[in-house]
Amino acid sequence: MTVFLKFAHLAAIAIWSGGLLVLPFLFWQRGTVADGPDLDRLHRITRFVYVGMTSPAAVIAIGSGTALIFLQATFQEWFSLKMVLVGAMVMLHVVAGLVLGHLFLPNGRFSLFSYLVLTSAYLVLVSAIIWIVLAKPHVDSNDFAPGVFKPGALGQFFSDIRTPTP
Ligand code: HEM
Repeated sequence: MTVFLKFAHLAAIAIWSGGLLVLPFLFWQRGTVADGPDLDRLHRITRFVYVGMTSPAAVIAIGSGTALIFLQATFQEWFSLKMVLVGAMVMLHVVAGLVLGHLFLPNGRFSLFSYLVLTSAYLVLVSAIIWIVLAKPHVDSNDFAPGVFKPGALGQFFSDIRTPTP
């Protein structure tokens, strides 16, 4: 079961990451293609990469990863760090969708600068996540947030908020 889930997770991540890396390039091409059949083709391909490929892969990656949480040692700090970066990746995935929603309106453009910034952000995030999962770096949360992983600490935190000690 674990092997199957890891296989699905890694395959989906390959498609998700690859799709995110290629999308800014397709967005940038909007400014280089004149109105007509070529622009329609670019529109169809870009929509297919986002809607038909990258987004379903993201759902499978997140679903299989969530299932793996219950089968692997995910109670260590490196995993929380990974989740923070995955959150950023999901937000930038949504950014690509927002760009796509406006890009093919008349006068829609995606500058070379935006293309380079978005591609670099995806590259840095994907590389950092893969490094964290493979290296599983030792991070001691007691160094910067003592007690954050202590069992019952969240309940204690909220009861302190509700009944502040005089
Ligand atoms: C909500 C999203 C995600 C969840 C819940 C999740 C969860 C997990 C879990 C629990 C494992 C097993 C960890 C272990 O071996 O102890 C795993 C493995 C892995 N994940 Fe994710 N993951 C998510 C997204 C991602 C993303 C976006 C990437 C890369 C860009 C990624 C890359 C990997 C890799 C490379 C492994 C294999 C590690 C190994 O077998 O040694 N994951 N994931």
